[in-house]
Amino acid sequence: MPSMFGSKFIYLILTVTGLWQYSPAWSASLQGLPMSKRHDQWMVRYGRTYANRAEKERRFEIFKTNVEYIDSFNREGGKPYKLEVNGFADLTNEEFRASRTGYNKPGISSGDRIPMEPALFNGNATPASVDWRVEGAVTPVKDQGNCGCCWAFSAVAAMEGIHKIKNGTLISLSEQELVDCDVDGLDHGCEGGLMDDAFKFIINKGGLTTEADYPYTGDDGVCHMNQTSNPNPAVTITGFIDVPANSESALQLAVASQPVSVAIDAEGYNFQFYGGGVFTGSCGTILNHGVTAVGYGTELDGTKYWMVKNSWGTDWGEDGYIRMERDVSRQEGLCGIAMFPSYPTA
Ligand SMILES: *[C@@H]1O[C@H](CO)[C@@H](O)[C@H](O)[C@H]1NC(C)=O
Ligand SMILES: *[C@@H]1O[C@H](CO)[C@@H](O)[C@H](O)[C@H]1NC(C)=O
Repeated sequence: MPSMFGSKFIYLILTVTGLWQYSPAWSASLQGLPMSKRHDQWMVRYGRTYANRAEKERRFEIFKTNVEYIDSFNREGGKPYKLEVNGFADLTNEEFRASRTGYNKPGISSGDRIPMEPALFNGNATPASVDWRVEGAVTPVKDQGNCGCCWAFSAVAAMEGIHKIKNGTLISLSEQELVDCDVDGLDHGCEGGLMDDAFKFIINKGGLTTEADYPYTGDDGVCHMNQTSNPNPAVTITGFIDVPANSESALQLAVASQPVSVAIDAEGYNFQFYGGGVFTGSCGTILNHGVTAVGYGTELDGTKYWMVKNSWGTDWGEDGYIRMERDVSRQEGLCGIAMFPSYPTA
């Protein structure tokens, strides 16, 4: 279809030139204004209201501390990424993590993991770069809101990807079905969960329904469909595979085949306020956030990155994505991205 080629082409040009990532930042236009004005303008932009004056003052103090930190980070420069005064600017990092992450680190031993087929490793050459968005295998960035169910968004994005690759159609699938119905095992809706357990649930249930049929509400609700069986699923998967832990090259092989669920340590203000570029932040390996690796590539200066789809809306990062440094010196990968990757099969 010519129109498809057209949009793909334009997309490629924008991606290659990096233009779409560097539109002038809204927050930069407010620099120089008194902090209270910046806060007021920020409240308007993000539709934020506070219950009373005391709450506004408390939030203003947090906002001020955050904005001063962001400004000084960006002024200092010298990093391949920048920070941005985004919609999370009146939250402390602790508050932010409590409500916007939700990956529960598994207590499973490596013996429980389902290994990737050795065939995948045998001399398979990987392309220099991959972007599953260009192949139409990634739905628009979603927003988990104030609910710790990143695990559902991560699992669903990987499932949407393999379905498109195998079946040819991209169907947006229901995170809320997982939040409401996948409650008898290790997954606990807004209180956290694991992508592998979401895959297990979906396999046992016989598939997942669409986002349109079971829309996202962002809170723990009752399951309003058959909880254990899905006789007419929109999309099914046949199994899932755990990528060998602590190998970015194994992860690269997997991502070359399809979008992959990954767990990361998203702690810290630099992650909260990530505003574009290749993230090289100093994060740990306490895995607390589930996201989806949808590609990888290399910057002109040689910096390698993973293209990662997040579930914090399009205002965060690069239109909702983060490029995270790839092939770092520690085997766990940056922020532990190579520790627990997995992907569904179809
Ligand atoms: C593709 O998916 C649709 C909807 O889930 C299904 O009806 C159809 O049979 C699938 N086609 C193939 C070739 O798998
Ligand atoms: C759910 O589906 C299963 C299998 O079709 C069926 O046995 C069970 O009764 C259904 N549960 C409810 C509550 O309808």
